[in-house]
Amino acid sequence: MEEPDNPRTSPSGHTIGAVEATLLAWYGTAARDLPWRKTRNPYAILVSEVMLQQTQVERVVPRYERWLRRWATATALADAPAADVIVEWQGLGYNRRALSLHRAAQHVRDEGWPEDLTRLPGVGPYTAAALGNFAFGEDVLPRDVNVERVERRTGHAFTARAAQALMDLGATVCLARVPRCGHCPLASECPSLGTRDEPLRRQSRFEGSFRQRRGATLRLVVERTRWEDELDSDAVASLAGDGLVIVCEGVVRLPS
Ligand code: ADE
Repeated sequence: MEEPDNPRTSPSGHTIGAVEATLLAWYGTAARDLPWRKTRNPYAILVSEVMLQQTQVERVVPRYERWLRRWATATALADAPAADVIVEWQGLGYNRRALSLHRAAQHVRDEGWPEDLTRLPGVGPYTAAALGNFAFGEDVLPRDVNVERVERRTGHAFTARAAQALMDLGATVCLARVPRCGHCPLASECPSLGTRDEPLRRQSRFEGSFRQRRGATLRLVVERTRWEDELDSDAVASLAGDGLVIVCEGVVRLPS
């Protein structure tokens, strides 16, 4: 961890290092216009973060907006049938997230927001930190892969204030395979200038194809209730284990 070099004072009175000040100045001119940045509503932020866990920003934006038009509050979502929630999620992938979000909304409806946000279904340490920072103003830096990459490459310790700026730098400039150092505000102080990361291990062919079989099977059940013997039985068993479908007397349907 580096000490903040050449400390300055931000408008809120916090002392920030020169590197972070440079990053925040860049963000002031280059920030992406994303709808969840215009709110501090914890439910809206939760919806965005769960969608963003495994789906790209461009695909999430229209689905996030549609979701909030349909279910504007945690209580509205909590009161909806699980089947409607699964259908609305179609196209976002990793369907278990739909059920977790539904259960998280039921937790909030019944007991309010927990002190420890990881008690909500589908909320791990990263999503809890993002929700804590963006909705509740907590002094925590959510570290997703992009933020971790910028920290690792620059060797700099950023504060919670830099969260959104780090996400944008990591997503648009400090890319893993082809970093755009010529566009980076931190290039002159970056020890990793011009270096790229080795490719990561991708999902195995088997994991990828089973995920697709699950997705395709769920889509068939979303269309209409099916006979069990029309469907891929391993995929049905896996979906039923997650509560995404109900199997009863040879019929497979969405949960109510
Ligand atoms: N990825 C995860 N959370 C994000 C956020 N709040 N903004 C942009 N990308 C993200």
